[in-house]
Amino acid sequence: MVLPIVRYPEAVLRAKCRPITEVSEETRQLADNMLETMRAANGVGLAAPQVGVDQQLAVIDVSHNPECISYLRVNGEPADMVQHMPVVFLNPRLELGKAKETDEEGCLSFPSLRGDIRRSADIKVTFQTLEGQTITMETDGLLARAFQHEIDHLNGILFIDRMSAAAKVSLKRKLKRLMEEWEEE
Ligand code: NI
Repeated sequence: MVLPIVRYPEAVLRAKCRPITEVSEETRQLADNMLETMRAANGVGLAAPQVGVDQQLAVIDVSHNPECISYLRVNGEPADMVQHMPVVFLNPRLELGKAKETDEEGCLSFPSLRGDIRRSADIKVTFQTLEGQTITMETDGLLARAFQHEIDHLNGILFIDRMSAAAKVSLKRKLKRLMEEWEEE
């Protein structure tokens, strides 16, 4: 089922999401619906608060572009990215590499807003799966960026918070205009 996507400035987008201690049938259903919702919106990631749920669950799929990363290690072993997509992850813990890179991002909670965001080029993320396994992924490129973006959502942090000072100056007016358009829809 495709769920309605929560738009900025709804309060749930600022929630500190709760860890999931037990995977229930409801959790699985939510994950399925989030995958369907992400695909219907042509997104590469979606976090639970974006569908109104303050739980540490998110989904990512960057398999449309196998060239968008230069490496992936799963539990320390080289792995094929496409085979590991989509990723459904719970209770993630993120370690950031020192090197940074800037790229353009969007967010399904901010239709038609895009901005350059500086993030770590490499990450290591440890998370739980719906099956109760603990998995570690190390990667770069779009997948590293997507993990950072979605995990920010689980902590109530939005990509506009990470825009440069210069971008924030024009952001206020742009956001005001966009929010009026969203209301008219
Ligand atoms: Ni987002």
